[in-house]
Amino acid sequence: MSQKSTSAILILDFGSQYTQLIARRIRELNVYSEIKPCTLNPGNIDISKYNAVIFSGGPASVTDSDAPKFDSDWLKINKPILGICYGMQLISYLFGGTLSKGGAREYGRASLKILKDNPIFKGLDRNETFEVWMSHGDHVENLPRDFEVIASSESLPNAAICNAKRNIYALQFHPEVVHTTYGTEIIKNFIFEIAGCTKDWTNENFIENSILNIKNEVNNNANVICGISGGVDSSVAAVLVNKAIGERLHCIFVDNGLLRKDEGIKVMHLLKDLMGLNIKYVDASDKFLSKLKGVTNPEEKRKIIGKVFIEVFEEEAKKIPNVTHLVQGTLYPDVIESVSVRGPSDTIKSHHNVGGLPKNMNFKLIEPFRELFKDEVRKIGLALNVPNEIIHRQPFPGPGLAVRIIGEITKERLNVLREADAIFLEEIKKENLYDSIWQSFVVLLPVQSVGVMGDCRTYEQTAVLRAVYSQDGMTADWCYLPEGLLRRTSNRIINEVKGINRVVLDISSKPPSTIEWE
Ligand code: XMP
Repeated sequence: MSQKSTSAILILDFGSQYTQLIARRIRELNVYSEIKPCTLNPGNIDISKYNAVIFSGGPASVTDSDAPKFDSDWLKINKPILGICYGMQLISYLFGGTLSKGGAREYGRASLKILKDNPIFKGLDRNETFEVWMSHGDHVENLPRDFEVIASSESLPNAAICNAKRNIYALQFHPEVVHTTYGTEIIKNFIFEIAGCTKDWTNENFIENSILNIKNEVNNNANVICGISGGVDSSVAAVLVNKAIGERLHCIFVDNGLLRKDEGIKVMHLLKDLMGLNIKYVDASDKFLSKLKGVTNPEEKRKIIGKVFIEVFEEEAKKIPNVTHLVQGTLYPDVIESVSVRGPSDTIKSHHNVGGLPKNMNFKLIEPFRELFKDEVRKIGLALNVPNEIIHRQPFPGPGLAVRIIGEITKERLNVLREADAIFLEEIKKENLYDSIWQSFVVLLPVQSVGVMGDCRTYEQTAVLRAVYSQDGMTADWCYLPEGLLRRTSNRIINEVKGINRVVLDISSKPPSTIEWE
């Protein structure tokens, strides 16, 4: 942990889909929280830094042979513990209680009745029943010694239990999801009343701490490099590091020839002129395009782009003396080591990230946002006065327009796509839709069809309009765009962009499609 703030909650992740939500809820209450895999040995972490530990839910059964490995020494730490769902079953089992499989399975809403006054329910009315969110197959049948029931639901007598002497609390329901009516109050009670946390997690505090840490980490005569794409994560990370070490941060913006219209100029203006970053523009477009010549396979395109990017980046880094660190805008969802019960997932696309660490480069990493979510980084960016244009930028894939040109990539086809894409974005912005849409862009198809312009026959390519709503890019829904916007965009593209005579609309969601076409 890199914070000097005095309060922190550690969450042990047993693989629940809600674990990230627990961390969010706590941070929204201005307390720092961190997630670690449940397999972590308590001897390998400085527990004194944390006010309390939460055991998350998880999809396994505690008594199954493939249940996640867990060191029962966690139960001996002298800190308050809160078990949620699987966490509750694990605590009960390890203290000698018994579990029941199935029987009272509950998924969805249930009514909870508080049976005993308890600090975790402080402020909640004992005469009231309130809605909680359940999602479990197993449950606690017989309580371990020294535990008492503090709340029940209709079908579950042991819905919340407590061992006051040991300061251990356990809930079968999920306080972290919005459907649990007083979920936030319950979490608040645990972190403030029981764990004694103070509200010291703020953007300003985070920025101040990060700057301090970076100053301590980087020697006075050392240099640091950062690959910049103009996306929010790497840009805000660079601005933050720049505050700590100034000109000794060397940002490198690689123009791979696959950028959108005027993108290089815009990014340089925003980050160099407005934010004062020490940033070098490297035009490597010829190198990328010559390596991509004749390549049509999407995975091959990605691999070539990733490899050339590393080569260019390495070449540039060698020109800077005494480089000890590399800055990356890695976010929490990129690093979470959640317990996977389904095994490794299929590789659908091998994502190439601009700024990805070349494996054989011998730098230490500075990743100030490893614990944060994207919207938290946006808030940090705002506090650092990063221009809105960067903070609210729609995501853009590392391989750029290469994965939006189906078939061969040529300078001519790139220019056609750039013009069409710029028109679509301009129209989206005119309708004030840009910020609410996750991504909106044009894809160029190698499909030629017959058209007529004036009195002449045309035989040109096809442009696809793609606009999707999404939370995180993992799933996405296509946007229902206003008719006027579609009409204007189609008209303008066909009239203004030479090389396109047909515009079509992509109305596929993810899954089963993906957001990008390649
Ligand atoms: P897909 O097409 O897989 O995209 O549904 C999900 C999100 O990831 C972005 N994307 C990439 N980002 N390198 C990146 O940095 C890549 O190779 C890459 N491919 C897709 C895509 O734009 C969307 O936001």
